[in-house]
Amino acid sequence: MFKVLRKKVLSDTGNDRVVLLDIEAPLVAKKHQPGHFIMLRIDEKGERIPLTIADTNLETGAVTIIAQEVGITSKQLGRLEAGDYILDFVGPLGQAAHYPEHKHVVCIGGGLGVAPLYPEVKHLHEIDSHVTTIIGARTKEILILEEEMRKHSHQFYVATDDGSYGTKGFVTTVLQQMIDDQQPVDLVIAIGPIPMMKAVANLTRQYNIKTLVSLNSLMVDGTGMCGACRVTVGGETKFTCIDGPEFDGHLVDFDEQMRRLNMYKDKEKSALALEGC
Ligand code: FES
Repeated sequence: MFKVLRKKVLSDTGNDRVVLLDIEAPLVAKKHQPGHFIMLRIDEKGERIPLTIADTNLETGAVTIIAQEVGITSKQLGRLEAGDYILDFVGPLGQAAHYPEHKHVVCIGGGLGVAPLYPEVKHLHEIDSHVTTIIGARTKEILILEEEMRKHSHQFYVATDDGSYGTKGFVTTVLQQMIDDQQPVDLVIAIGPIPMMKAVANLTRQYNIKTLVSLNSLMVDGTGMCGACRVTVGGETKFTCIDGPEFDGHLVDFDEQMRRLNMYKDKEKSALALEGC
């Protein structure tokens, strides 16, 4: 059993709250590298869901995860409090990310994608890369981890769809401005909703800027056995859980990925209705 050490509500706009949980899992914390994720199951009746590791603390053995309360399991997670326990917490899973030192890397996070982007920004800062961070959200109230991101970034920008904070527009509005200003960019890392990652990849392709995206695929076993997390990259089938979650954004078939993510939306809605959520 894995103990919940801390819980914090990061944003609460009435529905779809975003919660942060520190889970006591010292072995996972010790082996974690940027890019890794975990799979958890709250109890023996629960489903297994993947969540990216947002942070770790080697002293307390805490692994930080962040979840948006959109499905049954994430809503159950949101109801946990410090002192409660989770049955399974497996990881770290996936391929660790390897980034260049002393380069200009633009890190782009949209919505909940800011959470998995945070350890990458921190790591890039530690290895002396020049880090520009752009985070985006529909509106100011649902922005998360702004202060943490600022702390590890040399340049920092916010974009909101409704203009309530930072640049009015999308994260690509800010990126396009940087390119127009002829700021040299060695690498872009984009994590967020599929339409956002697709838009970033379409923009950087025009300027031949290497772009990595992190996919949040449907997963069942997390070990490459079931095929649930498959994705087409450069015409080849890859498994997000063992080959990813990061892939070359210029090669990912985002439309297929979007179709696969939407496949079980109706079932999820009926399950939520049955649970009275
Ligand atoms: Fe089963 Fe990736 S989750 S193969």
